Amino acid sequence: MTMTQFNLTGRKALVTGAAVGIGRGYAVALAKAGADVAVVDLDERTGRKTADAIKSYGRNSLFVRCDVTKKDQVEAMLAAVVQAFGQLDIGVNNAGIGILGGDADYPLDDWNKVIGVNLTGMYLCAQAEAKQFIKQGHGGKIINTASMSARICNCNASYNASKGGVVEMTRMLAAEWGAYNINVNCLSPSYILSPMHASTPMEVRARIRELTPLGYVERPEDLYGPVVFLASEASNYVTGVDLLVDGGHTLNAWLTPLSRAVPPRISPEEETVQLKHDLAAMELPFDKNGINETLHPEIADAYRAAFGLS
Ligand SMILES: NC(=O)c1ccc[n+]([C@@H]2O[C@H](COP(=O)([O-])OP(=O)(O)OC[C@H]3O[C@@H](n4cnc5c(N)ncnc54)[C@H](O)[C@@H]3O)[C@@H](O)[C@H]2O)c1
Repeated sequence: MTMTQFNLTGRKALVTGAAVGIGRGYAVALAKAGADVAVVDLDERTGRKTADAIKSYGRNSLFVRCDVTKKDQVEAMLAAVVQAFGQLDIGVNNAGIGILGGDADYPLDDWNKVIGVNLTGMYLCAQAEAKQFIKQGHGGKIINTASMSARICNCNASYNASKGGVVEMTRMLAAEWGAYNINVNCLSPSYILSPMHASTPMEVRARIRELTPLGYVERPEDLYGPVVFLASEASNYVTGVDLLVDGGHTLNAWLTPLSRAVPPRISPEEETVQLKHDLAAMELPFDKNGINETLHPEIADAYRAAFGLS
């Protein structure tokens, strides 16, 4: 094996939900590895900023506004990316949402929205990408963002069912499209301090560290290596896999709080650096701990309750 297997120079990629958070991290990682990257999102303001960031690494980029739940928009998005880049080699389907709420009274509309974006949206994007790969005739890489929520009960039924669905959908598509040299895999993060979770209070972050063998809260940066691996030749014989990147959180270690032998690789202060950087890039306010109290205030309370800290 040589390091050139991880080199993405000349590859053309698209990332959905790439305006902020995990998707933005994927887009930056692919660009740093050499790929040109289309930023696909609903939000034009932050999406254009991410496309500018990609260009600052010397790569080609464009922003394409697209609601991944709409088949016609997904097909138009794919056509726009291929028109700009001439081809597509890597499709990263990442746009996702969660709508909090207990399940006994959970509104059907909310269920449909979550399944619509997280499962149907990923299916529509994967379909459009596969059609393009089949047309080009030289295979391709599809990477879907699932979640550790496919394996542990940490959110609610709509979110966890959608992510479990992504894992099984990925396995089936991998089986079906292997015949075209298309690899289909998932990446499953744990709790990531994306803007989605920027209101997570400090005591909850401390509890997550206690429950995670590697001892720190995941950052989008922790997915850079895994996404480049799945997008590159280095993973040519890997398909249908759910690559869990969770610091060991889902090992459900019973020795909690886990005692540490040495300090974690990333300190609590370093954890927040990327988050502050991302929030600053989006011109969103945050305090000294990288906490944005206004973005998703309901998440702070839900987390406190889930971790028994309320
Ligand atoms: N943050 C976490 O802890 C975590 C953990 C595991 C998995 N995930 C998954 O990772 C993915 C990204 O999460 P994040 O934390 O970066 O979220 P985020 O809310 O910070 O960003 C999501 C992005 O997706 C875009 N988006 C939403 N609906 C869309 C639609 N219909 N069409 C196009 N774009 C749309 C949003 O505009 C936003 O830019 C999601 O699939 C999420 O479920 C997140």
